[in-house]
Amino acid sequence: MIVQWYPGHMTKAKRQMQEDIKLIDLIIELVDARIPLSSRNPDIDELGKNKSRLVLLNKADLADEKWNEKWTQYFQEKGFYVLKVNSKSGAGLKLIQGIIQEACKEKIERDRRRGIKNRPIRAMVVGIPNVGKSTFINSYAGKACAKTGNKPGVTKGKQWIRLNKNLELLDTPGILWPKFEDQEVGKRLAYIGSIKDEILNLEELSLELLDFLRNNYPGILNQRFGISEEGTPLSMLEGIADARKCLIRGSEWDYAKASGILMDEFRSGKLGRITLEYPEGLEDNHEDNQ
Ligand code: G4P
Repeated sequence: MIVQWYPGHMTKAKRQMQEDIKLIDLIIELVDARIPLSSRNPDIDELGKNKSRLVLLNKADLADEKWNEKWTQYFQEKGFYVLKVNSKSGAGLKLIQGIIQEACKEKIERDRRRGIKNRPIRAMVVGIPNVGKSTFINSYAGKACAKTGNKPGVTKGKQWIRLNKNLELLDTPGILWPKFEDQEVGKRLAYIGSIKDEILNLEELSLELLDFLRNNYPGILNQRFGISEEGTPLSMLEGIADARKCLIRGSEWDYAKASGILMDEFRSGKLGRITLEYPEGLEDNHEDNQ
């Protein structure tokens, strides 16, 4: 299951980001809390050196709370400010302002020494596709989203959303590219739906997800589909097909349909809050997940 990203697309995105980063004080990086490493491109660390950094563990509502805590710690230990949020409901967003002030305190102090008063902090949202950048900007900026002059001939400059007197947000998020060198990373991105299903073998993916779930979250498949978690992943998929009446001509298992149901229910959180990767060194710590 090899997934290719277009080098041309990548180079252009990187160049754009290098330009945009020059204009800002703070990078707000969104990652998917279910796969906080696989959903980030570590090149941002190089691109954003010298900038204040805030990592948002977005979609924290879909991830396991115990692991949200551990990932928060992990990123803090790397020197980032971190917050878990749900951009869809807005949970966690009201803490951001205080954290931004804290993350940019050196810049604020530098300005003060130079006699510059009240220069707003300029921030930019970055992340790979589908982590929730637009949802975040819409929820966080809310009604302040009214932009100015985005018409041909009016201005070619960057558009900023003024959130308050202390903070301005670049209106367009920076799109990072996922890194696929490791096939496990590609798979995790596929589980959460960040790679188009058409280019994937959904059945193969489902079998691996079933194996992961029964090992790391024992009981949830039984609870959701009433199936046995013993046996092979294939027998579990057949169990789901039986439970959800995914049958061709009334008797053959429709693996594609059953796989689709499993992936949909996982992605939308119906199977519960599940984290798919763990910080290095803590991988074996998941026995007490439930
Ligand atoms: P992007 O700009 O980074 O590409 O991502 P976008 O905001 O389009 O969000 C991608 C999907 O993730 C959307 O779902 C969005 O609603 C969902 N999402 C964003 N943040 C959160 C969050 O914190 N929690 C949860 N549970 N979902 C989140 P969609 O299915 O594409 O759209 P919709 O059906 O929700 O409208």
